[in-house]
Amino acid sequence: MTTQTSTPTLAHTRDELAAALAEQDGRPAPGSSRPYRRAVVMTMGALHAGHLSLVARARELADAVVVTIFVNPLQFSPSEDLARYPRDLDRDVALLSGPGLLRPEDVVFAPDPQVVYPDGDPVVRVSAGAIGDVLEGVSRPGHLDGVLTVVLKLLHLTRPDVALFGAKDAQQLAAVRRMVRDLDVPVAVHGVPIVRDDDGIALSSRNAYLGGEERRRALALSRALRATGTAEQIRAAARQALQETDVDYVALVDPETFAEVPADFVGEALLLVAATVGTTRLIDNALVEVGA
Ligand code: PAF
Repeated sequence: MTTQTSTPTLAHTRDELAAALAEQDGRPAPGSSRPYRRAVVMTMGALHAGHLSLVARARELADAVVVTIFVNPLQFSPSEDLARYPRDLDRDVALLSGPGLLRPEDVVFAPDPQVVYPDGDPVVRVSAGAIGDVLEGVSRPGHLDGVLTVVLKLLHLTRPDVALFGAKDAQQLAAVRRMVRDLDVPVAVHGVPIVRDDDGIALSSRNAYLGGEERRRALALSRALRATGTAEQIRAAARQALQETDVDYVALVDPETFAEVPADFVGEALLLVAATVGTTRLIDNALVEVGA
């Protein structure tokens, strides 16, 4: 079997991006009269199989794909890992050029912070509202506002029909969906399921920080999501499973509003966990049947 790779167009500046998008826009939708469709996958680089599953899905949904690689300073608090966040553009582009992924007409947009924020930190920002005040919002105040601000900017810059986000960042996905609805952003948002390693751990760029023993302890997050029973039993069992970690939160919520479900709730809810192992903060989630 031959494995073919093809290198996408690399854009670092707004002008390079605009030129690459104009090239895409000049092409007819292959073999049909339907309008041409572009998909965007936004990332902070340090790509893994989870990101590549987003790109593969984008490839299925659209005629051309833009992948953005940008470590967004706005979504890191001063105590977080902005400086040590892994960056390796050559490796990321090589991965994106793998079989079934990006083609030469597709674009990787990898801007510097001054390209995205030419006037420095933006004065006007998107507020995630109530959804930004719970869970990740408690541990990382302003994080979701920073995410939504860059997501909206990147949507304006890349002008996609479809934007794909991973279900691992469930609160981010819900906030993006809400922003798109509330602000009438003309894009369809697709959530893509979590990709897990064979041992169950959800793929994350931050897994790279885990040493051998920490990796074993990190398995507690995916194990915690197997809890069953009533809402209270699920919350207690998930906490119990996380005892070898420093638990940030265990939450059982309505998947859209992120409000905690009551003790007598019966039906589908989203179980979310966040915990620190060593110095690495990890999150995971799954839909669970409550009261079944
Ligand atoms: O999920 C991420 O990697 C980031 O939050 C995103 C959506 C690329 C915005 O910086």
